[in-house]
Amino acid sequence: MSIETKSRAELGWMREASRATAEIVALMIQAAQPGTQLIELDRLARSEIDKRHATSSFLGYKPGGLPPYPAVVCLSLNDVVVHGIPDATRLQEGDILSLDFAVSMRGYHGDMARTIPIGPISPERQALIDVTRAALDVAVQTVLPTKRIGDIGHAVQTFVEERGFQVVRDFVGHGIGRRMHEDPQVPNYGAPNRLPRIRFGTTLALEPMVNAGTWEVEVMPDRWTVRTQDRRDSAHFEDTVALIEDGPEVLTRL
Ligand code: MF3
Ligand code: CO
Repeated sequence: MSIETKSRAELGWMREASRATAEIVALMIQAAQPGTQLIELDRLARSEIDKRHATSSFLGYKPGGLPPYPAVVCLSLNDVVVHGIPDATRLQEGDILSLDFAVSMRGYHGDMARTIPIGPISPERQALIDVTRAALDVAVQTVLPTKRIGDIGHAVQTFVEERGFQVVRDFVGHGIGRRMHEDPQVPNYGAPNRLPRIRFGTTLALEPMVNAGTWEVEVMPDRWTVRTQDRRDSAHFEDTVALIEDGPEVLTRL
């Protein structure tokens, strides 16, 4: 497995795409209120993509025989882990909503995800969100020239399980650049001291998915929507990160 590192110019283009990604996610988060339909958030994102002359990384994406993904954003409510397809469902107070979004600009991609509360939520749901967000920070802090890819997942899994939650195994983070998904795969679990070393110029999309109950998941008949097997809640945070001389740089934060 070879990890291609990025030049300074490429990192600049990735910053630009990642900034646009983060701006549009911020707008969707503002618009996600009780009563908002999921499809309205997709519509908002499409118009913001056009405004910036960016390209959706998701629309029409079809990995390995799946039907083409029909939207520009994945919206996953409550027990949906990832890849929820926006429909006419209205957000309700007490829901948690995961927004996963990516665009490319000048051929380079930025990819991010956030789980947000819709109005007041239960303390259990808030704890799940807080742990997942902190798990992403743990992952980011492991992007160092002294570490290997396996150290990221080891740190995330240890952090999450110490707090009584479980990490999803069936979906992983990834390299990112000219393609949304590049080598290496970045698991959120596993043993330390394995997988490739992290070099300067490496760009990764780190994305812990954390479940309140079992880590096991189930794909719905639409072949995209992924739910927890026990129908308990799930949260997802993702950032695009580069290792530069100063350390890890998060590209998808405003
Ligand atoms: N954002 C997801 C990832 O981080 C991919 C979404 S699949 C798509 O890898 F079909 F929606 F594009
Ligand atoms: Co991703």
